[in-house]
Amino acid sequence: MNVYEAINKRRSVRAYKNKPIPEDILNKILEAARLAPTAKNRQQFKLIVVTNPETIKKLVEVANNQQFVGEASAVIAAVGLTPNDKMRCGIPTDPIDVAIAIDHITLAAVEEGLGTCWIGSFFQDKACQLLGIPSSYKVVELLTLGYPADSPRPKTRKSLNEIICYEKFC
Ligand SMILES: Cc1cc2nc3c(=O)[nH]c(=O)nc-3n(C[C@H](O)[C@H](O)[C@H](O)COP(=O)(O)O)c2cc1C
Repeated sequence: MNVYEAINKRRSVRAYKNKPIPEDILNKILEAARLAPTAKNRQQFKLIVVTNPETIKKLVEVANNQQFVGEASAVIAAVGLTPNDKMRCGIPTDPIDVAIAIDHITLAAVEEGLGTCWIGSFFQDKACQLLGIPSSYKVVELLTLGYPADSPRPKTRKSLNEIICYEKFC
């Protein structure tokens, strides 16, 4: 599968089979996150990989009661270690660095026949408490991971000319 095929195939999966992810596959996917670029090559994030079924059950409530979270074989909590850092442009660094790493994971997961779903609807305080994250750090995103138990839907996206401008803002 080439990168364009993986981008096309990636979709949010909100139903998962009850099937564990082999350790070597999980490690390959995590390696894709390790190789992601970060601002100044800071690498100021941690990925907490949760596979314990009891903890995954508890993550349902953390994720605003999104029930499919409890079906995932793994949930990754992506933690930014420098929540107050900004780039020269004034944009916070952690969410960008973490988002790139997570996106690498979502595409590598496609290659391995796995599905993912970004979870931004979660309670920060509950996530930190459950996963033992120090209060100086922030969970940027949760990501579910597992073998899909649903079927792909067509993608709904704006057209290129709605999002692309040439030379000046349009
Ligand atoms: C930052 C971010 C946060 C998201 N949070 C959630 C979420 O909490 N729950 C959910 O079901 N989907 C969530 N999504 C998935 C989006 O709804 C989904 O990516 C979008 O509708 C496009 O669909 P697709 O991923 O199938 O292409 C999130 C996606 C992103 C990028």
